[in-house]
Amino acid sequence: MKHFSIVTVLVIILTVLVYLLLQSVGLLPIQASSQAIIIDQLFDIHIGIIAFLFSLIVVFIGYSLVVFRRKNDNFDEEGRHFTGSSKLEIVWTVIPLAVVIFISYIGAISLAETRKIDPQALSVDVTGGQWYWSFYYPDYDITSDTLYLPVDRQVKLSLTSADVIHSFWVPEFRVKQDVLPGENLVKELRLTPIETGDFMVLCAELCGGAHAYMNSPVKVVPDYEFKDWIDEQLGNIPQDPISIGERLAKNNGCFACHSIDGNDGVGPTWQGLYGSEKTLVSGETLLVDEAYLHEAIVNPNGQIVSGFPANVMASNYGEIFSDEEINNMIEFIKSLE
Ligand code: CUA
Repeated sequence: MKHFSIVTVLVIILTVLVYLLLQSVGLLPIQASSQAIIIDQLFDIHIGIIAFLFSLIVVFIGYSLVVFRRKNDNFDEEGRHFTGSSKLEIVWTVIPLAVVIFISYIGAISLAETRKIDPQALSVDVTGGQWYWSFYYPDYDITSDTLYLPVDRQVKLSLTSADVIHSFWVPEFRVKQDVLPGENLVKELRLTPIETGDFMVLCAELCGGAHAYMNSPVKVVPDYEFKDWIDEQLGNIPQDPISIGERLAKNNGCFACHSIDGNDGVGPTWQGLYGSEKTLVSGETLLVDEAYLHEAIVNPNGQIVSGFPANVMASNYGEIFSDEEINNMIEFIKSLE
């Protein structure tokens, strides 16, 4: 019983150490979809079980080698003889059975969770072929070689193959689906990106010579960027200075402080700003013209309008925007009479 207690303690210690080690080596890439979180929980449980089984075997072998080694030179001495143990057999049948049933239970729950249907999902038809991926957006009639996805919105991928079996896999999303040829074999895969950024669709099924190069970019972007991309693809994104200026203002968060409806926010409203007279904190009065607007964007703390706080607006817009972009934004402000 003394041996058993020592071994139990050693198994627990080694299990914890191996588990922490496996957790710390970063086996998995970032979790970029809500499905990834669910799947990683399963990985986590498996890593725990693996750490325990490894420790169970290694500790028993190691302990036996050290503690029960032969202590004399009598090579003819026989070990203790025993036959079978029903108790042990029941234990090593019931425990693994319980573990397997537990894993299938949480596996089934997780599977249902990753496949949960959101009626608002964006539809994308995916075609894999030797050797490319192609993405078709039926709602917009757009075809793309890049998978553009809005963040925090579920996508319903309908996958098919133009030739042989491929497999759609984005490691950061943790989901993978075989892609089969044949119209009645369209597979469905749902995922909800939760991180913006650039990822890569890989092909995870050997499909011929260029299998290893069957990659396509995945871009997860904020919703407004996705809409801009759709507009761009449809060729109906206006390219006049006022529209460009409006998009720049919208996409860079200017409207958080500057309204366009006449109500002052943290900063002065842009409606009717151009051509108006403003009193500055310094007391002097000034006509808002193009030169002042330019200065106010590039050097926002230089000439603060009376009644508004200083040091609120970032002062690096002169570096972020080109002169042309600044001029476009000024054109947009001028249009807001
Ligand atoms: Cu397609 Cu491998």
